[in-house]
Amino acid sequence: MPKPIRRLTLAGADVKIYTSAASACEEAAHSISAAIEDGARLGKKVVLGLATGATPEPIYARLVEDHRERGLSFENVSTYNLDEYYPISPLDPRSYRSYMEQRLFAHVNLAPNRAHVLDGTVPDSFVKQHGEQFDRWILDEGGLDIQLLGIGRNGHIGFNEPSNLSVDRAVELPTRLVDLHPMTISDAAKDFDGEESVPRHALTMGVATILAARSILVLAFGERKAPAVARSLLGPITAEVPGSLLHTVSNKVTWLIDQAAASEILREV
Ligand code: PGA
Repeated sequence: MPKPIRRLTLAGADVKIYTSAASACEEAAHSISAAIEDGARLGKKVVLGLATGATPEPIYARLVEDHRERGLSFENVSTYNLDEYYPISPLDPRSYRSYMEQRLFAHVNLAPNRAHVLDGTVPDSFVKQHGEQFDRWILDEGGLDIQLLGIGRNGHIGFNEPSNLSVDRAVELPTRLVDLHPMTISDAAKDFDGEESVPRHALTMGVATILAARSILVLAFGERKAPAVARSLLGPITAEVPGSLLHTVSNKVTWLIDQAAASEILREV
C-alpha cells in the first residue's frame, strides 16, 4: 500500500498527504475492498456512501479491477450516492446515475436494488418525501459504514453548499433539494457544454446523513482544491465552509489528499 509522505492530525481528523492522487485513491480503494471482504467473512452487509466527480474515478476503476481479477464480490454491499442533479433523467449521460453505471455498477455484482442514487425524475411535490425516504433507507440498513467524499472549490460536501446557517442547524440538514452555488454551476459547465445547460438544482445527501457515517474518507487533489482544504482543516467550523462541518465529529474523518491540495496547509503547519 502506498505510504503517505506526511501524516497530520488537524481539527481532530487524520490527514494523510500522498505524492499523487493515484496513491491516495489506491489507499481509499483498499479501505473499501478490505471493509467489503471483512463484511463477507463475518456475514455482514457493508453500506457504502459514494461520490461522483473527477476525484473518485480511479477508486471505481480499482474496485472494478479487484472484482475482475481477485473476485472481490459486491454481493454483501449496498451503496447510496451523495447527490444527483434535479431535474435530470437517469439516462442522461451527464446524470450521476449514468456516471455510476458507467464506472462501477455495470461492472460488478451489485444488485440493482442495492445501488441507490437519488432520483432526478421525482415530481416536484414528492421531492421532500424522496429525500426523507432516502435517509430512512440508510437508517434501516444500519447506517453508512464508509462515506466517500470529495470537496468543492467552495468547500461544499455532496451538494451541501455554503450557507449562513448556524453550525447547530447546518449539522442537522437532512437529504433534500438544494439550489446550486454559482461556483458549482461554473465547475459543472464543462460537463454540460456551457453554464446555461447546468441544472440549477440538485438533490443531496444531508450533512447530518454524512456525519452519521461510521467512517468518512475525504479526497481532494490538485492546487485548485488547496484553499477549500485549508479552510476546512485550519479555519473555524462554519456552514460557510461545509467541509469544516466534518470536524464536529471526531475520530472518524480521514483526509486523503495529494501534495498540491495540501500546499496551503503545509505552509501553515
Ligand atoms: P470533483 O468534484 O471531484 O469533480 O473535483 C468534487 C466536488 O465538487 O465535491
